[in-house]
Amino acid sequence: PSPGWTVTADVVVVGSGIAGLTVALRYTELSPEGRVLVVTKDVLSAGSTQWAQGGIAAVLDPEDTPAEHLKDTLLAGAGLCDEEAVRVLVTEGPDALKRLMEHGARFDRDADGELQLTREGGHRRNRIVHAGGDATGAEVQRALIEAAAHEPRIEVIEHALALDLLKDAAGHTCGVTLHVMGEGARDGVGAVRAGAVVLASGGMGQVYAATTNPIVSTGDGVALALRAGAAIRDLEFVQFHPTVLWLGEGSTGQQPLVSEAVRGEGAVLVDAAGERFMAGVHELADLAPRDVVAKAIMRRMAETGADHVYLDARHFGARKWQARFPTILAVCRDHGIDPVTELIPVAPAAHYASGGVRTDLKGRSTVPGLYACGEVACTGVHGANRLASNSLLEGLVFAERIASDLIAVRRSPGTPHDDGHENSLIDPRARGRIQAFMSRGAGVLRSRESLATVHRALADARWTPIAVEPCTESWEATNLHTVATALTVAAGLREETRGSHWREDHPDRRDDQWLRHIDLTLTEKGE
Ligand code: SIN
Repeated sequence: PSPGWTVTADVVVVGSGIAGLTVALRYTELSPEGRVLVVTKDVLSAGSTQWAQGGIAAVLDPEDTPAEHLKDTLLAGAGLCDEEAVRVLVTEGPDALKRLMEHGARFDRDADGELQLTREGGHRRNRIVHAGGDATGAEVQRALIEAAAHEPRIEVIEHALALDLLKDAAGHTCGVTLHVMGEGARDGVGAVRAGAVVLASGGMGQVYAATTNPIVSTGDGVALALRAGAAIRDLEFVQFHPTVLWLGEGSTGQQPLVSEAVRGEGAVLVDAAGERFMAGVHELADLAPRDVVAKAIMRRMAETGADHVYLDARHFGARKWQARFPTILAVCRDHGIDPVTELIPVAPAAHYASGGVRTDLKGRSTVPGLYACGEVACTGVHGANRLASNSLLEGLVFAERIASDLIAVRRSPGTPHDDGHENSLIDPRARGRIQAFMSRGAGVLRSRESLATVHRALADARWTPIAVEPCTESWEATNLHTVATALTVAAGLREETRGSHWREDHPDRRDDQWLRHIDLTLTEKGE
C-alpha cells in the first residue's frame, strides 16, 4: 500500500528490546544533535527481553578471563562461530554491561555489595549477572525504557509494524514503511524517511507451536530483510531450550521458561522413574550446553514413551526458591506445581534463533544503510548453538557498535524508488497451520522427509485463494510463512547434525563438508 503520511528521522530503529533501546540511547549519547525514532509493534515492553530469566554473561570475576568466555562460546557454537565476532563480544561485554548499569539497571549483589555471578549450561565459570533473582530481562527492560523516556531526542511510535524497507535508486536504505494501529493522525500505512534503518525486532519463535517467545516474535525483521534483498544466515540453527515448563499435551503459544540457572544452582534432571540421566552424557552433566541437554531429554522421552521429564530442585527449600527464583516459583505454583515439594515437569521448546540477518562487526547487513542487532541478526557469535546468556550481551555490545557506525557514516535520506513490487498477504488463520507443521517436521528432530512435507504444506498455504485485508495479523502470518519457508530450506540443505540442528537421517557432524554457512536471499521472483 502507498504511504498516507511521512515523517523523518536521522535513524529509525525497529524494535524496543535491549538491542533497539541501546542503539537509540548510545546514538543520542554520542551525537549531541542526533534524533532517533524507535518503532515497535506493540508497546515498548512487549518483546523477548523482558522475559529473559537467567541473565547476562560477562567476564567480571577476577579469576575469569575473556579467553575462557571465548572458548566456552566457540565450543557451544560447534565450529560455526565467527571467532572475531566472539572476541568482540567477550572483550567489549563487561564495559557495555557497566554502561547498562549507568542507565539504571540494578543487578543482584551479595552482602559485600559485589555482583552475584551464577553459572548456566556450557559455562565453565560463574559469569552470569542476574536481577530480581530470575527476572533479569524485566529489570533491563525497565531501566532502558526509563532511560529512553528521559531522552527527548528519542521519539517512539508504538503499535507500529514495520512493513518494507525503502531504498533509493542506488539501492541505499532511505527509510521504512509502517502500518500503525490505533487512533490519531498517524493511523494506517505511513513512511519514515531516514538515512539508516536498524532492525532490532527480535526472533521468530512463533513459527513453532510451543515456544518461550512472546506472541510478537513472528520473524518480522528477517522477513522484511529478505524482501529487501539482504542475506540471511544460519536460519537452520533454532535453539530449543531444554527446560520449559510442560503444561500438558497440545499446549501451544508462549510457554514458561525454567531457567538454566536453576540447574546452575544445583537442580538435576530426572525421568519419570526418578533416575538421573545426564551423568555420562557430557562432562558437565546437567550443565552441558543446551543442545546436548535437549537431545538427551528427547532421547530419554523416546526411550520411556513420555512427553516430558522432570527437574528436581526440591533440595533448594522454600527460602532459596523464594529468594533466588521467585518468578519461576510463582509461575509453577500458578500451574499447580510446588517446586519446593514436587518435581517440575519440563520438555524442550523453541527458544532462540541463532541465525538471522547476516551482519559484519559493525552490525551492517548486506544492504547499504540497513543494520541488524539482537536476535534478528546473525553476527556470528552464536554459530550452531548459542551459549546461555550471551544473547542480551550480544544485543548490548553490537548495539553500541552500530551506534558508533551510524555516526561515522551519517547520511541524509535519499528519495525512495518505487520498484513496483506488491506483497501478497496470507490469511491470518494460516498462523496455526504453519506452527503445527513446523513443530511436527522442522522442530528438534528433522529429516529430509519431514522437511519436504513441511515445505509442501507451506507452498499450499501460500496460495490459499482468499482476499486478505492488510492488518497486523495478515502481515504476521505472511512473515511467519516467509521465515518458515527459509528455515525449512536451510534445514533441508544442511545434511548433517550440528549444534541445535539435528537431522535424524544424517546423525553425524560432518566437518569435512559442513564447516560453512548457509546464506539465503530472495530471488526477484520471490523464491
Ligand atoms: C535461561 O535462563 O535459561 C535462558 C537464558 C538464555 O536463553 O540465554
